[in-house]
Amino acid sequence: MILYVDHNIKKHLSSSPSLFTQMMALQGITFRKEAGRLTQAIAIDGQSYFIKQHTGVGWREIFKNLLYGRLPIISAKNEWVALQKCKTLGIASPHVYGYGKQGINPAQIRSFVLMEALQDARSLEEISCHWKAFPPSFALKNQFTMKVAQITRTLHDAGINHRDLYICHFLLKDQTLYLIDLHRAQIRKRTPSRWRIKDLAALYFSSMDIGLTHRDRLRFMRAYQKKPLNAFSKMEHTFWEWVKKRGEKLYCEHQ
Ligand SMILES: Nc1ncnc2c1ncn2[C@@H]1O[C@H](COP(=O)(O)OP(=O)(O)O)[C@@H](O)[C@H]1O
Ligand SMILES: [Mg+2]
Repeated sequence: MILYVDHNIKKHLSSSPSLFTQMMALQGITFRKEAGRLTQAIAIDGQSYFIKQHTGVGWREIFKNLLYGRLPIISAKNEWVALQKCKTLGIASPHVYGYGKQGINPAQIRSFVLMEALQDARSLEEISCHWKAFPPSFALKNQFTMKVAQITRTLHDAGINHRDLYICHFLLKDQTLYLIDLHRAQIRKRTPSRWRIKDLAALYFSSMDIGLTHRDRLRFMRAYQKKPLNAFSKMEHTFWEWVKKRGEKLYCEHQ
């Protein structure tokens, strides 16, 4: 069993049952409930936190993933590791206050990750939902475009791909743009092109209805590649064509 809980939080919990059991039993406001996984806003001693509690995915889910050539996410470890990596890369993300994992049977691992609640934060999806009807200033739109491109590039260049990179997973709080939901993130030495494309397509798709212009997208591409458009190689142009194609496909699938 692995268990870490910030000592300032620990002191507000009782000595029995075990700390792990208490963390897994915490209840608050449910934000997401999936089979074997619960995302909640909770309070400990009047302080707000977010907790993701995993109660085991089951063999069915494991086999289903393996059948499609995917490695299943069987615990909160992924998010815990990815959140720490983000911190070292200077990508703003919720601070981790606790992590625990119990069990060896992959289908029944119980785990949690406890993190800072970004209170009064607004997602980029909420912020931009009226941009089509009421366009923001160029400066504001450009600021977000550059920041999202920079976060995405930093993540990818460090060998991380997010796998849920929609604009709803960028939260703005006190002028800082945070990246959240690293539950499915993968970490490698290098991020293969297909995984970069998948993340960028998710961004493309989730920003299709917010009134971005072709020029905004070109600005994003330049910032992500860190070079002017006329310096893009043929391969890089093809790469961005794939991003667009996959993004549009996602959009059609969601209509
Ligand atoms: N640390 C946090 N601070 C504030 N809101 C959060 C935080 N973590 C998650 N949320 C909210 O809960 C929602 C679900 O969390 P998310 O991390 O996306 O989990 P899931 O993997 O279940 O989709 C988010 O879209 C966001 O609205
Ligand atoms: Mg999510």
